[in-house]
Amino acid sequence: MCGIIGYVGEENAVPIIIDGLKKLEYRGYDSAGIAVFGEGGFFDVVKQKGRLPALEARLADAPIEGNMAIGHTRWATHGEPSDINSHPHVGSENKIAVVHNGIIENYKEIKERLEQRGISFVSQTDSEVIAQLAEYYLQKYSGDDLTDTVIRVASVLEGSFALAVMSASEPDTLVAIRKDNPLIIGASGHGMFIASDVPAVLRHTNRVYYLGEKEIAVLKKDSVQFFGMDKAPLKKKLETVSWSLDSAEKGGYEHFMLKEIMEQPAILRETIRSASGSNKDILDSLDIARFDKIVITACGSAYNAGVVARYVFERLCRISVEVELASEFRYKDAIVDEKTLVILISQSGETADTIAAMREAKSKGAFTLAIVNVVGSTVSKEADVCLFTAAGPEIAVATTKAFSAQLVVIYMLTVRFAAQLGQISEEAELFAEIASLPDKAAEILAHTDAIAKYASVCVGCKSIFFIGRNIDYAIALEGSLKLKEISYIHSEAYAGGELKHGTISLIEDNTLVVALASCERLYGKIMSNVEQVVSRGAKVLLIGSCVGGDFARDGEPDDATAPDKGVTPDGKIAVIGLPKIHELFSPSLSAIVLQLFSYYVAANRGLDIDKPRNLAKSVTVE
Ligand code: F6R
Repeated sequence: MCGIIGYVGEENAVPIIIDGLKKLEYRGYDSAGIAVFGEGGFFDVVKQKGRLPALEARLADAPIEGNMAIGHTRWATHGEPSDINSHPHVGSENKIAVVHNGIIENYKEIKERLEQRGISFVSQTDSEVIAQLAEYYLQKYSGDDLTDTVIRVASVLEGSFALAVMSASEPDTLVAIRKDNPLIIGASGHGMFIASDVPAVLRHTNRVYYLGEKEIAVLKKDSVQFFGMDKAPLKKKLETVSWSLDSAEKGGYEHFMLKEIMEQPAILRETIRSASGSNKDILDSLDIARFDKIVITACGSAYNAGVVARYVFERLCRISVEVELASEFRYKDAIVDEKTLVILISQSGETADTIAAMREAKSKGAFTLAIVNVVGSTVSKEADVCLFTAAGPEIAVATTKAFSAQLVVIYMLTVRFAAQLGQISEEAELFAEIASLPDKAAEILAHTDAIAKYASVCVGCKSIFFIGRNIDYAIALEGSLKLKEISYIHSEAYAGGELKHGTISLIEDNTLVVALASCERLYGKIMSNVEQVVSRGAKVLLIGSCVGGDFARDGEPDDATAPDKGVTPDGKIAVIGLPKIHELFSPSLSAIVLQLFSYYVAANRGLDIDKPRNLAKSVTVE
């Protein structure tokens, strides 16, 4: 959600900012802009509704340059997507330029006060008040430098903000501050960077500072200083990021999403390895016996990983688990205390609702354990302990590899807890099953053609249903979410047994139902559900390790998966068999098939897969 990049250094800032904005596209945006401190001693601002090529075309027509600039990709909250509402915003005198990520909750009051003092606004945004207020303070407190001004402004703002600010009176200084929105500072050999996320600066440096809450960074071309809101200097650690530039590039794939799906065997292997590496100390230190309840809270796919986790935890640990959407948890006055383990799952570690849920849980005394992908993120820093997934940068908006890595961390945590509680004797066997996942994932990924072929005939579907029972139901939720977010096809996930309580009325001739069947104990039950929908006209795609037609082994992908040559004589049921695995870990294999299915459906519809409409990768506002 909104991307910020700023640069001050020896090189022309414009191409650097544009490249950085391209790396931030994944966050979701509807307009983009850049402000350069130009030779005339004022800001050249170019901003444009639409995607980055539109901004680049404007810059090609009227080039600008300078050694200091800020850029922004905007995801509209206040005011429609338009050129004028795009960032950067400048004050009426063109003395201050600002880019903002977040929401200023008291912007109306500030705006009214400034209007009463004769300042006119040009946009409908909440963000413009920051530029106007900063310019007003700069004039009012003439002894202030830009850092003082930013501190004054930040003390007035309510809500959330990450800001990069330039002042015409300090042409060599960039100032950044954050509250409830991420910002990193990158240090390279030719200049300093401000960015919403590490991929934006990886081309230039992998050495970063993580800016903390209400910390201020003051950047010059060859130095950076940090301050608190009282302007007391802060010491911060320069950290080296292990992500490579390649990991943030498409690497020959048409879409990041496909690249990230394909990376999964390696990522699963790395995440499994982390149990004896970077995550080991945390895993060893956790004592499950001190808790009488587990609450898992997260959003979107991370929530779906939490639903999988509930089945795994309850079955192996025999401990009661609740799963709550973070947006609900934060306002429900949750019943948690010192004896509750609250698990937060988040790829970005910056999801506003998840952060709020974490803070709520901590304020009630609960112990918080986070499962996070982005090192240095707010959730990873504020949770009591954090287990990292080793997924690397995830660029496609629809999560794939980070979701899979979350599942693996959950399995390992659960098996460890179950052993601690004396609930299982087969710890080694279960770890061996988890360790077999990367190879089994690779087996599936070696046969994408069959899934692509099936997906190609589903492009015209108006609605697709996903059904499963028990842990298969948990992964049906993810299959459905993945499909709707990138293909824009309506879909719903149902527990198989629930169909007859209402949804079955929606089944008609040729409705597609994707049925998941990896849960051996309930195979007969899900097959009854399949029969119920087939007899009402549905076509079924049956996916699982319990079914025949294992395309990964029997070499009959075409026959097994072609919808008109299904395994039933009338062609109503097509089958994608999966490698055998302990049923509790089967979501990892089903997820990969479902990700590929969604991907190919969306690809056949010619959609913008990596940046689906209306969605942002990291939802940093409520
Ligand atoms: C779906 C997806 C989203 C995220 C959700 C939480 O493909 O990516 O549903 O899972 O926005 O994001 P994080 O994990 O960053 O907290």
